[in-house]
Amino acid sequence: MQADRSGKEAMNEKKPITAATLLRAKQHDERTTWLTAYDAVSATIAEAAGVDVLLVGDSLGMVCLGLDSTIPVTLDQMIHHTAAVVRGRKTAWVVCDLPFGSYQKSPEQAFETSVRVLQETGCDAVKLEGGEPMAATIRFLAERGIAVVAHIGLTPQSVKKFGSYGKRGKNADEQAQLKRDAAAVCAAGAVAVVLENIPHDLAREITKKTTIPTVGIGAGADCDAQVLVWHDLLGISAQNPPFAPAYTNLRQQMCDAIARWSKDVKNGDFAS
Ligand code: KIV
Repeated sequence: MQADRSGKEAMNEKKPITAATLLRAKQHDERTTWLTAYDAVSATIAEAAGVDVLLVGDSLGMVCLGLDSTIPVTLDQMIHHTAAVVRGRKTAWVVCDLPFGSYQKSPEQAFETSVRVLQETGCDAVKLEGGEPMAATIRFLAERGIAVVAHIGLTPQSVKKFGSYGKRGKNADEQAQLKRDAAAVCAAGAVAVVLENIPHDLAREITKKTTIPTVGIGAGADCDAQVLVWHDLLGISAQNPPFAPAYTNLRQQMCDAIARWSKDVKNGDFAS
């Protein structure tokens, strides 16, 4: 509850979302919604629509900055955008992606990067890509009080290694590795795990077995939470990944509005 200016307590204020809220939701079989956000205005809109978690993904590079992968995204860029999202949110949990090269070298490097992110943005958690090989790093961060979200399956920062953004877990060996990855990040103390572009029955099995929330994108309906990229959900992206449906066509609507205004200006009809 929060006090208003007259000192009265507002009964209906939504409580801030925490890692514990998300864990409780899993335990009660309640779904949560995660959406990417990159600035204060999108944070405010997503929260007004009831989104629980705002993920400042390094997809930032591709959907906002015109880059052709997430690899060139810098820590300073992530901090700049995450701080803006934090300024726009009231109760949503805000997660910042650690960009490529800012955490893979050692647990100590990941810790120093996470400290910068948490101190300079005010966000709640960091996300990093990788399963079993990153478990020691996740443990190092978790033991030092940092909330870590893991990300397995399609991990876009490794696109140069895999050569594509295609489905992961396509054969028995890859599926067994993904199960080990999920178990390892969970045992290491991650508070949630993103499952990207993996077979739906595998995601269902991982979701049943892990005690932390699974957050699916291209991983079927049985995950504990779903995440989408802002520009994909709203139909702003020029092209969506096959697993990311658009719920409207803002790209066309924005284009139409700007074209109408432009025509009015050129015709001398824009009078304000
Ligand atoms: O960078 C990002 O937006 C992500 C989500 C797609 C999970 O990692």
